[in-house]
Amino acid sequence: MISKKPILISQPTLPDLDEFVESLKVIWERKWLTNNGEFHREFESKLADYLGVEYVSLFSNGTLALISALQTLRITGEVITTPYSFVASTNSLHWNNIKPVFVDVDPVYGNIDPLKIEAAITPKTTAILPVHVYGNPSQVEQIDEIANIYGLKVIYDAAHAFSVKKNEKSILNFGDMSVLSFHATKTFNTIEGGAIICRDEKTKKRIDFLKNFGFADETNVVAPGINGKMNELQAAYGLLQLKTIDDQIIDRKRIADRYRLLLKNVKGIRILEDMENVKHNYSYFPIFIDDSIYPMSRDELYFKLKENNVHGRRYFYPLISEFPPYRGLASSNPENVLNASKVSNQVICMPIYPGIKNEVLEKIIDLIKGN
Ligand SMILES: Cc1ncc(COP(=O)(O)O)c(C=O)c1O
Repeated sequence: MISKKPILISQPTLPDLDEFVESLKVIWERKWLTNNGEFHREFESKLADYLGVEYVSLFSNGTLALISALQTLRITGEVITTPYSFVASTNSLHWNNIKPVFVDVDPVYGNIDPLKIEAAITPKTTAILPVHVYGNPSQVEQIDEIANIYGLKVIYDAAHAFSVKKNEKSILNFGDMSVLSFHATKTFNTIEGGAIICRDEKTKKRIDFLKNFGFADETNVVAPGINGKMNELQAAYGLLQLKTIDDQIIDRKRIADRYRLLLKNVKGIRILEDMENVKHNYSYFPIFIDDSIYPMSRDELYFKLKENNVHGRRYFYPLISEFPPYRGLASSNPENVLNASKVSNQVICMPIYPGIKNEVLEKIIDLIKGN
């Protein structure tokens, strides 16, 4: 066992406790706990500045944000999406009575393959829901072009893509909307939380009605909304997180670089390099095990790491299309999602979070190398 304390895939960074206590004192003083309070408004505005986007609507979690994004755009019928994601991506469709249509992914990054989207479009298709898996941008230009040709909406599940930029531009500015998650395991956390990024004020207004039961004003409900509001404690906590997020991402890069250096020549282990012209957030460090070359299967390595108190995650395994609610769909046919199956059967996401010491990383790599 390399460590008495479990080394988990992620560990949240919390804001400075004294500063948070100061924020709590303000909340106690104001006695305004939720419903678009002062911290909420300040956090929305500072987050928009930080991310380089125009309109942010905060949510209590990413799943409600996804569900509400689909509601806002009145998406119906069929939506093209990826089976290689966290199940919330597809569940958000199901909760809107929308049929998910799975399209295979590219074999390297595991993002939806734009070349396979057109073949999945039917008269019922209304939107595409791609995922920026591990924060690596999907092929946004091609996806947006297909959407324009066929008159489809695009909602990016950007749960992993906080702060990611492509050609100096926030990746959240592509498509009609992007949805973030601020769950405790994410690069940027507000304990639980999320946001929708949209392009215009009118749409933001509708999102904000929907996350507040559909209330447009005191006496008028304009749509069957939900309760998706973020509270003041989380907003205050989020504001403090913004102060340190850049340093956290720098430290994540140190860890990713270390893994890359130490794993470079290990036969049978594939790693991902940075993409050209992309500013990454290093939210995950996936490795892919080819057991025709590596001396163990993916699962053997996964359990060996676990026995040594190193808790990676087989993320995403199984595929969403393999879960009972979805496996009966025609697009869930394994023949339709061959690349997704392959990456899903090869992946382990390794521990990555600010503060992991180089010695710990070296011990983890020794286990992988079989030393
Ligand atoms: C790709 C993806 N989509 C959606 C979600 C859902 O976000 P939340 O946990 O904030 O509801 C997550 C993470 O949990 C995720 O990883």
